[in-house]
Amino acid sequence: MHYDLLIRNALIIDGCNTPGYPAYVAIHQGRIQRIGDLSGATATDEVDANGRVLAPGFIDVHTHDDTVVIRKPEMLPKISQGVTTVIVGNCGISASPVSLAGDPPDPMNLLGTAAAFVYPRFSDYRAAVDAARPAVNVAALVGHTALRSNHLDDLYRTARPAEIAAMREQLRDSLEAGALGLSTGLAYASAFSAETDEVLQLAEELNAFGALYTTHLRSEFEPVLEAMDEAFRIGLHARSPVVISHLKCAGAGNWGRSPQLLSALEQAARQHPVACDCYPYAASSSTLDLKQVTDAHRITITWSTPHPEQSGRDLLDIAAEWNLSLLDTARTLQPAGAVYYGMDEQDVQRILAHPLSMIGSDGLPEDPFPHPRLWGAFPRVLGHFSRDLGLFPLHTAVHKMTGLTAARFALHERGEIREGYWADLVLFDPQRVRDVADFKNPQQAAEGIDGVWVNGVLSYAEGQSQGARQGRFLPRGAGLSEGFNRYS
Ligand code: ZN
Ligand code: CU
Repeated sequence: MHYDLLIRNALIIDGCNTPGYPAYVAIHQGRIQRIGDLSGATATDEVDANGRVLAPGFIDVHTHDDTVVIRKPEMLPKISQGVTTVIVGNCGISASPVSLAGDPPDPMNLLGTAAAFVYPRFSDYRAAVDAARPAVNVAALVGHTALRSNHLDDLYRTARPAEIAAMREQLRDSLEAGALGLSTGLAYASAFSAETDEVLQLAEELNAFGALYTTHLRSEFEPVLEAMDEAFRIGLHARSPVVISHLKCAGAGNWGRSPQLLSALEQAARQHPVACDCYPYAASSSTLDLKQVTDAHRITITWSTPHPEQSGRDLLDIAAEWNLSLLDTARTLQPAGAVYYGMDEQDVQRILAHPLSMIGSDGLPEDPFPHPRLWGAFPRVLGHFSRDLGLFPLHTAVHKMTGLTAARFALHERGEIREGYWADLVLFDPQRVRDVADFKNPQQAAEGIDGVWVNGVLSYAEGQSQGARQGRFLPRGAGLSEGFNRYS
């Protein structure tokens, strides 16, 4: 048999949370054809892995890459980390289905200006992704705030029955077109007024499609356990799996509570498929939120529409220069984005290490001075947390970014190195892999990512994009709700 590609002498970490084993991998027509001792095989292209690790391409489970996959389809911040699939539409905000009357409401502005929202139906977005052919595969959630912006004249109240019916219809139409599920961002002012019942009713659409519910909780501060309860209640009612987005203990008054959060997650997991994602940093980032302005920890400004020259500076320094209070300074900067150094490292590590957590970057690609997670999240888990700190073995790190995620999100034939699966692959050096992006210089590619293949085609190597982009839109696979009783 002659193959398209043969990768020799690799240490295969297959995504299933088991230690690596040496093998050759043969790829043909975009798929993994054979795994084993193929020393006699021939191929058009051959790569000697020299004992380095070959893993499934990483799945970035939490992104805001909705519009950037179309506008900057090279996707260098992601492909350079070994990411081959991004899940978009998180935190209640999605590029589709959206018909805006004016400017996008906060935080939909994280996805771009009004000009970026040109997908009134989910199927329009899906077609645009396929036409743009980004370097990475794209799967998408539908955002609750996006639906609200289509049907409510005022986002600061709960939806009325007719509005809920209209939102349900748009959600159903999107699920029919391949959306993974529904996301909410209940902490944001644009969704905070939505009562639980509004979300419960929308979520009733999910089960028929085997779709799931993901949520940026109503609070990540002191009431976080109550917010988790609300999320589980919605999932149970809808008979749909739940993923808590970027689980954390936010705010100094909340530090040290991660064991409580994780035990609540475990308890819910006994009767219902629930999980969470997290990013490997003790600082968060989003739009500049007056409720989060504090002198208890550092806050830096990442962008500001009226004051673009302040991006990268500390809120405290700007306030001193302007001779204003922190709050008035923040008001003057708005609309703006920020990094909040508001987590405790021990909480971050406990959540990262938990078997129910998946890795997502939550990177903000529009940001002129982004949180370094945009370029560094995945190599940071492999290098800093797994290799250097020994928080978990390398195969567990890989599992949290591949097999676990593909199973949770029903991404068909992805996330494992297995014969017949799509050849989304990353070759990396386990000794050298590390994140280079930091809070001072956040836009730098990782080291040690030596080759990335998307659907069987080499897409990144030697620090650069390679060849033709090969990503495609990934519709929801069958059967998430079939696993609904898996934990009972
Ligand atoms: Zn969020
Ligand atoms: Cu997010």
